[in-house]
Amino acid sequence: AEVIIVRDPIEAGSVAASIFMQQIIANPATVLGLATGSTPLTTYSALAKEVREHSIDVSRVGGFALDEYLGVPPEHPESYRSVIAREVVEPLGLTPEQVFTPRGTGPDIARAGAEYEAMITDAGGIDIQILGIGSNGHVGFNEPGSSLASITRIKALAEQTRRDNARFFGSLEEVPTHCITQGLGTILRARQLVLLAFGSSKAKAVAAALEGPVSSAVPGSVIQQHPRATVIIDEDAAARLA
Ligand code: F6R
Repeated sequence: AEVIIVRDPIEAGSVAASIFMQQIIANPATVLGLATGSTPLTTYSALAKEVREHSIDVSRVGGFALDEYLGVPPEHPESYRSVIAREVVEPLGLTPEQVFTPRGTGPDIARAGAEYEAMITDAGGIDIQILGIGSNGHVGFNEPGSSLASITRIKALAEQTRRDNARFFGSLEEVPTHCITQGLGTILRARQLVLLAFGSSKAKAVAAALEGPVSSAVPGSVIQQHPRATVIIDEDAAARLA
């Protein structure tokens, strides 16, 4: 992967947004892979600003979220459907129908993963996927131990991940225990990856993902197997790189 070390999340957002802009200008029907959490926020706001300022036509852009909480209805404010609506769909001027999230509720939930895979395939695959990384090395919600070939499926959230995400819910007990997430195999099929990480809490995971062995113990290490990956990190997140 190409590694770019930046000053802060604002600079990272403008670097990442320019990569996304190039892609959307080259292909106005680009299919975006969308992460939630704190990491992509500066990218989404920088991208929204560029789209506005350059009057970019996004009417044919598509999007697929990485993951959703299991059992959280789409209208819940912390469902990833709601988060993506607030942070991506509205600022970029997309319609909700242009962006998909895995369903976390509804009948025959065990089939939701395969349904989502089929939707991604029908859309022609994901052109460019934005990724954060968990402090335990997860990407999407592929926690340590996830198969490198995995596809979208239901997974248990690691305790660390539930604690890390408790800030979005009233208390740790309210954080869902399970999710539905794109697999590592799904992520590897995206034609381009952009992984971002900020702060010292990510330094260990970043070093293991970029310089350790490719292993399901560190799901983020799949980035080493991708032919077109860019990693944008601040100095704190880069601190443990050799
Ligand atoms: C989000 C996701 C996760 C986050 C990761 C980092 O859709 O799949 O892998 O990217 O947990 O979260 P933040 O960015 O909040 O530190």
